[in-house]
Amino acid sequence: MNLPTHIGIIMDGNGRWAQRRGLPRVEGHKAGVTALEKIVEHCGKLGIPYLTVFAFSTENWRRPAHEVRAILNLLTKTAQEKLPKLLENNVQTRFMGRLDRFPIWIRRHLRKVQEATKNNTGLILTVAVNYGGRSEIVDAVNKILHNGIRKVDEESFRRFLYYPDLPDIDLLIRTSGEFRISNFMLWQLAYTELWITPTLWPDFTPEELDRAIADYTKRERRYGGLIQSQ
Ligand code: IPE
Ligand code: IPE
Ligand code: MG
Repeated sequence: MNLPTHIGIIMDGNGRWAQRRGLPRVEGHKAGVTALEKIVEHCGKLGIPYLTVFAFSTENWRRPAHEVRAILNLLTKTAQEKLPKLLENNVQTRFMGRLDRFPIWIRRHLRKVQEATKNNTGLILTVAVNYGGRSEIVDAVNKILHNGIRKVDEESFRRFLYYPDLPDIDLLIRTSGEFRISNFMLWQLAYTELWITPTLWPDFTPEELDRAIADYTKRERRYGGLIQSQ
């Protein structure tokens, strides 16, 4: 079976999950953390090399300040609390996005987790925070200009992305039934297989991930070419 090397997830639907239960939206985000924990563990067990999850977009600042604050506090608290488990499970964790927009105390906590797990050899978990696909490309172009480079090709351009070691995403999962990319990893999604499910993120389970992967393994990826037998 040809498992995906890199799975991306747009973890959407936390707010609706909470609203349906008459709870404040932040409860949905908390439930989303629990769902993520199980998925990280499951990807580790399956031997998936890379998992990249979208936790906070450059556009999410448009939300009310109290929700933004709640999400960022939850992110920081989770990173701190889950560090022992990440170490135990050999998960290398890193954060991707314009982290310089965050207050120093948040950055310090995220950096600590990143440093502490950097030599782990299991799953590479990349958490996209204050991340935008367009920002990533614009930041790459600015690094290229800053280095005085006058010409790039696709291979050399890739070296200026936030994490050049991240391969293209093989399988992208989006929960909550929205049929859009919402500015996630525009460069790395060029030939990605998509799996869109109506399940709200807090209800997403390892079993559903297995179904998404099973479906992926049956797909024929052609990259613009023709199938082998033709
Ligand atoms: C995804 O859930 C989490 C973030 C974007 C931070 P939402 O908060 O977008 O939940 P819905 O889409 O409003 O249900
Ligand atoms: C995408 O979800 C971003 C994250 C999951 C972090 P949104 O809820 O922000 O996306 P839109 O607004 O529905 O496109
Ligand atoms: Mg949403």
